[in-house]
Amino acid sequence: REEDLHTDVLIIGSGPAGASAALFLATYGVDHLVITKYRWTANTPRAHITNQRTVEIMRDMGIEQDIIDEATPHEMMGDTVFCSSLAGDEIGRIRTWGTHPVREADYRMASPSMNCDLPQTLFEPILIGHAASRGSRIRFDTEYVSLEQDDDGVTVTVLDRLSGHEFRIRARYVIAADGGRSKVVSDLGLPMAGQMDVAGSMNIVFHADLTEFVGHRPSVLYWVLQPGATIGGIGLGLIRMVRPWDEWLITWGYDINQPPPDLDDEMAIQIVHNLIGDSSVPVTIRSLSLWGNNKMYAERYREGRVFGVGDAVHRHPPSNGLGSNTSIQDSYNLAWKLAYVLKELAGEALLDTFDDERAPVGKQIVLRANKSIEEFGAILEALGLEDTSQNVEQMQAGIDGLADDSPEGVVKRAALREALELKDYEFNALGVELGQRYDSAAVVKDGTPEPAYTRDPELYYHATTWPGARLPHCWLGDKGRQVSTHDLAGKGGFTLLTGVTGHPWVEAAHKAAVELGIDVRAYVIGPKADYADLYDDWARLREVAEDGCVLVRPDAHVGWRSHSAAEDPAAALVQALRGVLAR
Ligand code: FDA
Repeated sequence: REEDLHTDVLIIGSGPAGASAALFLATYGVDHLVITKYRWTANTPRAHITNQRTVEIMRDMGIEQDIIDEATPHEMMGDTVFCSSLAGDEIGRIRTWGTHPVREADYRMASPSMNCDLPQTLFEPILIGHAASRGSRIRFDTEYVSLEQDDDGVTVTVLDRLSGHEFRIRARYVIAADGGRSKVVSDLGLPMAGQMDVAGSMNIVFHADLTEFVGHRPSVLYWVLQPGATIGGIGLGLIRMVRPWDEWLITWGYDINQPPPDLDDEMAIQIVHNLIGDSSVPVTIRSLSLWGNNKMYAERYREGRVFGVGDAVHRHPPSNGLGSNTSIQDSYNLAWKLAYVLKELAGEALLDTFDDERAPVGKQIVLRANKSIEEFGAILEALGLEDTSQNVEQMQAGIDGLADDSPEGVVKRAALREALELKDYEFNALGVELGQRYDSAAVVKDGTPEPAYTRDPELYYHATTWPGARLPHCWLGDKGRQVSTHDLAGKGGFTLLTGVTGHPWVEAAHKAAVELGIDVRAYVIGPKADYADLYDDWARLREVAEDGCVLVRPDAHVGWRSHSAAEDPAAALVQALRGVLAR
């Protein structure tokens, strides 16, 4: 119909997935519109761990400093405590999020950006603000109702929740970023594996100055094992820092097979005081909510012209802090592909590679996050708390046994140590966060086998320029100033990196850019070249000869590489780019 609103891309939802999609498309100059159901962004802190890949992506968008300014820094994130209450016994402590000195090196060597803690309530407005200032049109109070697809586009019926009127939007493509209860994904009938609502959780957001309990062991997470808890299956509660050290979120489990608890302020304050272990602490409750833990992922992310991103296609518990991060990374993968296709710089088939590249990541993180929940069982077992029918005295005796001067005490302490080490897979899983290696038609392989993992692939990131992997980071020199290899990549364009004897590749990049009408920036890394290899790290990381090259896609994943000089470098590069771009 003539009166329909038209746009190239309609984004449904303004959570981390939708808001970041808007920021990326606005930055790439793609016409788009966001609709979102409520009057503003997330109203509870929810996601908070912001991993290095996400901060890197924000660095590419030029807004890393905004993130750092608002976030609790890496240094204050990692003394994760297990205790009987904040005021009570400390049962164990582990260094998390790469704050152990040994792991810190892995994290710092892997990325120009450190992780940080940024509650969703603060992150979403940053994303939305920058998206809007770069051209996004964002309609709040606007709800998706239904859609119909044909060969040229999608007609979406939406409800203006203020006026109660329905209207239609015609889009060439739709991004379904409408969260874990996605109506779009269920209307599309995307195949889903797994199960929703495997466990129940309640969130209690509150203000209380807890400096005296936590200031000496700064962390974003304090796990509380309380014997005799009347609520929750496992008796393990979580006190999560929202802002240091006076705003908090308690997550407490409940039995999802029973009617939901009647959570009111009085009950919430009781839970808060129990977990603090001091009922004299003044507490102001800010919000209460119930939510379900899920174990579900879509096996396919695309149906025609509609793409699912974020929780809409992968739903899992908060463990590993992967929810919002993966959602943003989905959108980053999709946005440049949409931009190239809409600008007619890539073939339509490029869009198929979104699904090929991101669906395996979604499955991996859903299974990982759920396994991390199960692995808490080892801690409870070590303490003899796995049987939740135990009474208060029996359970307290289990915890007290940790201090026993006896052979049983020795066994218990060793078992606890082992159980806590297992939590590295939740709290220090750098490989899960940075290790994605894509396998799709948007990656032109070079015939070499996938490099083997020399350490645990979930715990450790393995830098490689093997096509499909994320570009390895190292510091280069720009007239004495340090810049990351990642600073040369991104910005919506392709990047080619070569060495001093690789000059012909620079010429080839110019030719390829002209022939294909795309942005291909070429940089020589070496003495007196575009960038100095300050510490010779690039020479160690590049895995190609100095006269070879590494071609980097707009999302900082390697698209292709040549191990050495080519007879006709321009022809080789054009062929590779045509492969990546499905042209
Ligand atoms: P998200 O759910 O954030 O956003 C969906 C968007 O779609 C919203 O803007 C919504 O208004 C909109 N929408 C929905 N239906 C619509 C419709 N019909 N029409 C238009 N718009 C519609 N993660 C973590 O790492 N740590 C944590 O502690 C928590 N805690 C937590 C608590 C609770 C209660 C929930 C629900 C979730 C978490 N999470 C979490 C998960 C994390 O918040 C989640 O992974 C991200 O928010 C996912 O981002 P999305 O943008 O995909 O969905």
